[in-house]
Amino acid sequence: MIPGGEGFMGSRMIRLDKFLADAGEGTRSQVRKLIQGGSVRVNECLVRKADHKLDPDSDIVTIEGKIIRTGPEFRYFLLNKPAGYITATEDGRERTVMELVPSHPRGMFPVGRLDKDTEGLLLITNDGALAHRLLSPGKHVEKTYYAKVNGIVLPEDIEKVSEGIDIGDDKKTLPGRLEILSVCGGLSEIHLTITEGRFHQVKRMMEALGKPVIYLKRIRMGDLTLPEDLKTGEYTEISDHNWD
Ligand code: URA
Repeated sequence: MIPGGEGFMGSRMIRLDKFLADAGEGTRSQVRKLIQGGSVRVNECLVRKADHKLDPDSDIVTIEGKIIRTGPEFRYFLLNKPAGYITATEDGRERTVMELVPSHPRGMFPVGRLDKDTEGLLLITNDGALAHRLLSPGKHVEKTYYAKVNGIVLPEDIEKVSEGIDIGDDKKTLPGRLEILSVCGGLSEIHLTITEGRFHQVKRMMEALGKPVIYLKRIRMGDLTLPEDLKTGEYTEISDHNWD
């Protein structure tokens, strides 16, 4: 068995093609050709499978004998944030989301902000360029929230959200997508998808419609979806996601 193969699964294993692409050896399809062509070795053993898993911290990868090193090691944790924690790296008084990912390396930070009482998907990483891409206003990355609101959400609210809502800022919000999941006993459950990240945006949008939020949870950000089996307060490390 090749060290780094199935029997040696450590805490952070990544695919060989990802390792080489991250190291700047070409696109995923270019490095796959190198692997299939027999140019790549892991710990001196020839590997021809692009999805071969290796530990970038200990395995030695070579292309035609040249040792390949990755740049700074980027890590990605997806946390299902519970209420009661603030989205910050440190705070003198409040509990922060970083306390929920205790074994994280230094230099990690949460991407974007969820309110203290908001739950759900929060990415924690040390990849500043990715954070910039996800948060940059010009990129319009979609964020979907599940919310329980006080009041009866009507089809006309869907129309209003799709036209942008005046929440008291200089400009209306960008068009969003509102989906009514259920209406019962004077409460409604909704999905709301927005592409901006204004302060308390979902709460202010629903407040402007006269239906204040009583529970809020983010379930999607770009192509990252909160796994259904990830319990509140738990996190998972993402090692095989294509961030392009
Ligand atoms: N909108 C809000 O109002 N709160 C959040 O935490 C996220 C989006």
